Amino acid sequence: MRFHILTLFPDMIRLGLETSIIGNAVKNGILELDLINIRDYTGDRHKKTDDYPYGGGAGMVMQAQPIYDAWRAAAASCDGAARCIYLSPQGRHFDQSMAKELAKERELILLCGHYEGIDERVIEEIVTDQVSIGDYVLTGGELPAMVMVDAVSRMIPGVLTNEASGGSESLEGGLLEYPQYSRPAEWMGREVPPILLSGDHQKIDAWRHEQSVLRTLRHRPDLLEEANLSSRDVKLILNHIR
Ligand code: ADE
Repeated sequence: MRFHILTLFPDMIRLGLETSIIGNAVKNGILELDLINIRDYTGDRHKKTDDYPYGGGAGMVMQAQPIYDAWRAAAASCDGAARCIYLSPQGRHFDQSMAKELAKERELILLCGHYEGIDERVIEEIVTDQVSIGDYVLTGGELPAMVMVDAVSRMIPGVLTNEASGGSESLEGGLLEYPQYSRPAEWMGREVPPILLSGDHQKIDAWRHEQSVLRTLRHRPDLLEEANLSSRDVKLILNHIR
């Protein structure tokens, strides 16, 4: 999969993504990050990419032309028509199901804004989707783009070396992850739940599933509405809220 990222700060994204798991996937050729500096596409002598807002007001607005030309360069290198996602607090909320959906694409173009925003006309011209990573305002779209690339990439086969873990973690099936433990079996007087040492994998799976249901009930009850629950799960929940 190839991500084309249009940004004024390519180094920020490179430093954030070219380490650890995503960095290894890039080295192994499973992922490609095409970082496009919008500033390289300005026609301005002083390399300016922003200007004052028409109608007045605070801050600067990113101009349409450099963004459009940067997008054209990215789009021209794509196999077919690629979706262009603008990271914006006004967008649809990013979540695990969107990450899974986007992982099916071969190419994605991500547009990172800065300052007070982007000239609306270029958004109308090139953007297919607007995505927000939460209800707070960041200084730019770079961190949200990194969040998206990370969450989408780990759904792509081969990115996680332990193939199983892409699916079985928090939020798969709409539930939070069960608690995890490693050696030693006793630490600071706290013991690992004995069932995990039993070697009985059926019982362990059942216990972990129960823990997932109960954790979701405790920390994120709002998720239960959309979760895939069995009648056993429902009974468990009812026993705990009575
Ligand atoms: N740009 C600024 N804030 C943002 C947010 N919360 N999500 C996506 N893009 C943003």
